[in-house]
Amino acid sequence: ASADIGVTGMGVMGSNLARNLARNGYKVAIHNRSSAKTEEVYTEHGSEGEFIPSENMEDFVGSLSRPRVAIIMVKAGAPTDAVIEELASRMEEGDIIVDCGNSLFTDTRRREAALKERGLHFVGTGVSGGEEGALWGPSIMPGGSPQSYDRLGPMFEKISAHVDGEPCCTYIGADGAGHFVKMVHNGIEYADMQVIGEAYDLLRRSLGLSPAEIADIFAEWNKGELDSYLMEVSVEVLRQVDAKTDKPLVDVIVDAAAQKGTGAWTVQTALDLGVPVTGIGEATFARGLSSSPAQRAAAQGFAGEAQEWNVEDREAFIEDVRKALYASKLVAYSQGFNEIQAAAEAYGWDINLGALARIWRGGCIIRAQFLNEITRAYDADAKLPLLIGDSYFYERIVDALPSWRRVVSQATLHGVPVPVFSSSLSYYDGVRSERLPAALIQGQRDFFGAHTYQRTDAEGAFHTMWAEDGRAEVQW
Ligand code: 6PG
Repeated sequence: ASADIGVTGMGVMGSNLARNLARNGYKVAIHNRSSAKTEEVYTEHGSEGEFIPSENMEDFVGSLSRPRVAIIMVKAGAPTDAVIEELASRMEEGDIIVDCGNSLFTDTRRREAALKERGLHFVGTGVSGGEEGALWGPSIMPGGSPQSYDRLGPMFEKISAHVDGEPCCTYIGADGAGHFVKMVHNGIEYADMQVIGEAYDLLRRSLGLSPAEIADIFAEWNKGELDSYLMEVSVEVLRQVDAKTDKPLVDVIVDAAAQKGTGAWTVQTALDLGVPVTGIGEATFARGLSSSPAQRAAAQGFAGEAQEWNVEDREAFIEDVRKALYASKLVAYSQGFNEIQAAAEAYGWDINLGALARIWRGGCIIRAQFLNEITRAYDADAKLPLLIGDSYFYERIVDALPSWRRVVSQATLHGVPVPVFSSSLSYYDGVRSERLPAALIQGQRDFFGAHTYQRTDAEGAFHTMWAEDGRAEVQW
């Protein structure tokens, strides 16, 4: 029993994590349900570090030094439960099982509680960065018990991405906190991808620019405050020419966005917590709309734009779109962080939002320059109620506002869908409104269901006797 850590599940993510650990000097036990896969990884990469391949679970657990640490990297859901049981039944008090898959945080909470009863630590860990990230340095978000982090943290910090010498890994919070923040990371990823998509669509439909020309504009934007991995990826995709047809590749790809569910989880959970994540929600629904062939076919030929689009000042318009993109993205992040705050409150997690933004600066899919500013904002005020209210970000919103309004209204007049640009602007206008029509909704609820309302000038719950003309409200 001499391995520092073990990885079971030798898919691309699992084997790359194992290779990353080995490259960083850890002795890694490896295992897969079908042992041929383990053999394959060992044959191809065995020379990269110290590996102990095992044909079965018994040997795998036996090869781990105590307290044992075993990482599971298999499909979320039932397969993960099955592997947990295989491990747990062979482990001893104090051992640590780490789930690095994209598991739903409520599953993680359930598993953590069950394994705690058996004296085991269960650490639901968010890992972001795709295949390359897993191999060369992902962003790692471990939950579970603080004690488990003492054993696990140093290894994870070492193999994670580093920015300015700081690891992109930190202890997030108890039980499901790690998987929760990874889920919201993915929701933000959806919104970020969608706002870039909206900017692309607008530039194409208004100015008739080619994908390659838009790639050049995005490459320029990527040098400034929009500097991010997703922007960089978008430039690459838009520049790609299809070898078969010589057309821009993006024109050959079917325009139906797929999803594996983490965006939907973020929205479902936000609904449960009562947090408006309009940006993530609209981004998720936009994928749904794109993947609704029957509805799209039925709507082909529907009347469209109210005006012909002749942009007078092209440079100014491009700058407007850039600012609208930045402001909308900011709103989506602000909302995502609110969802994490609400969950921390509901589940008793002590999540350091500044530290979270810090470990998202590198390794993960949403890594971006402006996360530095998010870190600064939450470090300055850990309980900041609204990220867009931080003075640095607020200044940028104010600066972007005229552009944002022009872009959303022009897009609307010309029939170009901008679900995240427009809903983010509505969120901004909603949250800054002194009075909202919610007062009328409360009146309606009280009218038809005696649901009561609160008054601006008195404490308590009130009900109006609507049918009895003019009768004053009564305290409920
Ligand atoms: C990451 C990614 C990863 C996954 C995406 C894809 O952080 O490394 O988010 O987890 O590739 O979530 O998700 P969809 O298939 O739903 O777009």
